[in-house]
Amino acid sequence: MTSFFPHLMTRANPEKPLEVLILAAGLGRRMKSNRAKVLHELGGRPLIAHVSRTAARLDPSRIHVVVGYQADEVRGAVENELGTEKVAFIHQSEQRGTGDAVMVARPSFESSQSTILILSGDVPLIKLETLRALHDKHRAQRADCTILTVRFENPTGYGRIIRDDGKFLKIIEQKDAAEEERSIREINAGIYCFEARALFSALEDVKPTNNQGEYYLTDVPAILSQRGQKVATYEHRDAREVSGINTRAELAEFENLLRRSTIRRLMLDGGVTFIDPSHAYVSDEAQIGQDCVIHPDVQIEGKSVIGEACEIHHGARISNSHLGNRVVVKDHCVIIDSNIADDCAVGPFAHLRMNSQMEERSVVGNFVEVKKSRIGRGTKSMHLTYLGDATIGEETNIGAGTVTCNYDGKLKHPTIIEDHVRIGSDTMLVAPVRVGSGAVTAAGSVVTEDVPPDTLVAGVPAKVKKNLKMKKGS
Ligand code: UD1
Ligand code: CA
Repeated sequence: MTSFFPHLMTRANPEKPLEVLILAAGLGRRMKSNRAKVLHELGGRPLIAHVSRTAARLDPSRIHVVVGYQADEVRGAVENELGTEKVAFIHQSEQRGTGDAVMVARPSFESSQSTILILSGDVPLIKLETLRALHDKHRAQRADCTILTVRFENPTGYGRIIRDDGKFLKIIEQKDAAEEERSIREINAGIYCFEARALFSALEDVKPTNNQGEYYLTDVPAILSQRGQKVATYEHRDAREVSGINTRAELAEFENLLRRSTIRRLMLDGGVTFIDPSHAYVSDEAQIGQDCVIHPDVQIEGKSVIGEACEIHHGARISNSHLGNRVVVKDHCVIIDSNIADDCAVGPFAHLRMNSQMEERSVVGNFVEVKKSRIGRGTKSMHLTYLGDATIGEETNIGAGTVTCNYDGKLKHPTIIEDHVRIGSDTMLVAPVRVGSGAVTAAGSVVTEDVPPDTLVAGVPAKVKKNLKMKKGS
């Protein structure tokens, strides 16, 4: 092992490559779930995505993730966050403990000279600055191992830091701890820096002789210390930040904390009004412009971007969508993966989805569903309508009860409605079909053929009744 990368071994070059190892193979029994714990979501993103993102911001040479339970899904969640470059996955087929998980990952590491930062997939709130501080201390002390520790009011469940006269002795797990050891409040956060060579060498001496029959990573620091190698600790102040999530109750507490801090930031830094901040649900990745007003029970999800001076009324859900400035979303709308330009109005009870686009000043009203459609500037569709696979021009009016009949049972077909059209109430547009600019359909028309510009059609099926332009000109 020592013959690899000899140029890095000299003391003259203390900058060692940093690699990250995230442990995420376990099911997490205390969640009482069939889903791997790290796939449970916090702020709309899997726990593992939070940890992965923070790790990537350290700019390590590589991130290794140990997967096992629901490996494909966990891998997918990490790749979704980080892409595929710079990430390596290691499969731990049987979860025999955190020490085994690290041992399984050993062949994945390129250099025995690396410093390895180990993280748990279930500690989602850990901050970049904290990891940097841990790494800095590790380097400054020239330690072989540096353990992130914290003091908990209630340390139940965590590994305790046992010291002798202040000097680190060992970590003892809750399940193996004697009564007086359990009263120790300083705990192991499960986040460490290790010198690769020291880590893998000491792991060979770890035995599963404990109450859980597992290979504990937490036995490594004591082994190193007994060998005369340097073990340091870095005590962090913010207990909450380094708390693991082990149960659904803890997950809900974290969700609440994250939500409150997002809303507070939006109010204080962003100039957003929340009518009732305790009943608003905003993703920490969403952006909301100044002077927006957010009413109770609004949910803004994912990477939604909302412009300035918008008003979002009660019960709306906006997911991964863009809203321009001065948009009004009335009560109980669902807006998913869509774009709404300046000065539009939506709802109440409207549903936009699948990349629907509303251009400036357009209006989609009561009980209107818009799927994969474009609505031109100043166009209005006020009531009880389905617009699917439709492209609609400017200053057009869509009457109540209009339906684009876009599906023939096998395929979806497009509807094109040009500018300055008036679609009469209860018109059925049997796609594929085009309605020319300036045309009018009478109430109750069933339009099965293209309508030429400036003509009035009516009936079932709709027939041309009048050329509107000639009438105007005569
Ligand atoms: C671990 C530590 C404990 C520490 C606590 C901090 C050990 C033995 N104990 O306990 O000292 O206070 O974290 O949160 O390390 N995992 C695998 N493969 C396995 C076992 C676990 O990948 O075989 C993963 C889990 O998916 C999880 C992480 O390792 O992401 C930690 O495992 P977990 O079972 O949650 O350990 P704790 O009991 O919390
Ligand atoms: Ca844990």
